Amino acid sequence: MRILGIESSCDDTAAAVYDSAAGLLSNVVASQVPVHETYGGVVPELASREHIRAIVPVVEQALGKAASEREEIDGVAATAGPGLIGSLLVGLCFAKSLAFAWRKPIFGVDHLEAHLFAIFLEGRPDFPYIALLVSGGHTSLFRVEGFDAVAILGGTRDDAAGEAFDKAAKQLGLGYPGGVAIDRLARLGDPLRFPFPRAWLSPGSADFSFSGLKTSLRTFLASPEGKAARPEDIAASFQEAVVEVLAGKALSAAKREGIPRIVLAGGVAANSRLRERIGEDGKTAGVEVHLPSRALCTDNAAMVAFLGERRLSAGWSSALDLNAYAASRFSR
Ligand code: KG4
Ligand code: ZN
Repeated sequence: MRILGIESSCDDTAAAVYDSAAGLLSNVVASQVPVHETYGGVVPELASREHIRAIVPVVEQALGKAASEREEIDGVAATAGPGLIGSLLVGLCFAKSLAFAWRKPIFGVDHLEAHLFAIFLEGRPDFPYIALLVSGGHTSLFRVEGFDAVAILGGTRDDAAGEAFDKAAKQLGLGYPGGVAIDRLARLGDPLRFPFPRAWLSPGSADFSFSGLKTSLRTFLASPEGKAARPEDIAASFQEAVVEVLAGKALSAAKREGIPRIVLAGGVAANSRLRERIGEDGKTAGVEVHLPSRALCTDNAAMVAFLGERRLSAGWSSALDLNAYAASRFSR
C-alpha cells in the first residue's frame, strides 16, 4: 500500500509518501521559522495562513519526489490532533478533500502516537519499549507493547521540555526556535558551572516538572552572578539540568518496568546532549537506546504516512466527518 501523509499540527507544513514494500519514498517539510521568529514564538493565526499557502506545493513536491501519480496512492493519512486547531484544520481538510476526490480511504493520525513509532522508519526495535516523548507541547513516558498497545506512565505537570528550552532561550536572548539555539551555544560552555534544580518529584515518579527550573533561571539571570556569567555556561548548565532529568527518568522507568529498551521521540530528542547522555547512561545500565535521526524527531509527515499505512493496511479507516482535536488520548 502506498500512503500520502500530511502533517500541519503546529508550524511545519509537511507531506510524505510511504510504501509498504519500498519504505519511505519522500519526506518534505516547509518550515515557518522566518514568519514566527520576529514574534519569538508561533503565532497561531499566522501559522494557519502559512499552511494554506504551503500545503499544495508541499504535497505536490512529496508526490513528485516519490514519483507517484495520484492513481498510485492507495490512501491518505493526516494528523487530526493534538495541535493548534487552525493549523490542523488546514492539513486535515486538504487530506479529506483529496481522499474524497480521489476516492481513497483516509485515516486521521494522532500526532503523539505517530512520534512514538517514527523510529520504525529507520529500524525495528523489539516490543516492548519505553518511549520518551519530548517535544514543544509534550513530555511523557510510555510503555509501548505494540502498534496498538501504548500505556502512559507519566507526563509533565507543567511545562514541556521543549517549552522549557524555548522559554530559556528567550530569557537568554537567543531567539526562536530556542531548543536548537541552546543546544548549539551549550557546546561551548561548562554544564556543571551552575547547579540549576532538577525536579525528580516523589521517588519512582514518572512525572516531570520544569516550571521551577524556568523560575530559577529567571532569578539567576537577574542576580549579579547571573549578569556576570558567560551565556554559554548558563546554556550548558540549564541544558544539563533538563537532560539529566529526562535521561534519568527514562532509565528508571526502563528498570522499574523490566524493559531494557528505550526509544526517543519528539523535537527535543534532536538535542545533542540528551542523545549523548542517554546513550552513555543506557550503555552503563545495559539498556538499548534507539535514537531516530534528527529529521524524524522533529515534526514530519513521514511518521504520519508510516502509521497511516499500518492502520489503513489493517483495514482501519476514518469517516469523512473526521474532525481535528486539541487534546490527545496519549496526553494527560
Ligand atoms: O516535535 P516538535 O518538532 O514539535 C512539537 O510537536 O512540539 O518539537 C519542537 C520542540 C521545540 O520546543 C524545540 O525548541 C525543540 O523541540 N527542539 C530542541 C532541539 N531541536 C528542537 N530542543 C533542544 N535541542 C534541540 N536540538
Ligand atoms: Zn511533534
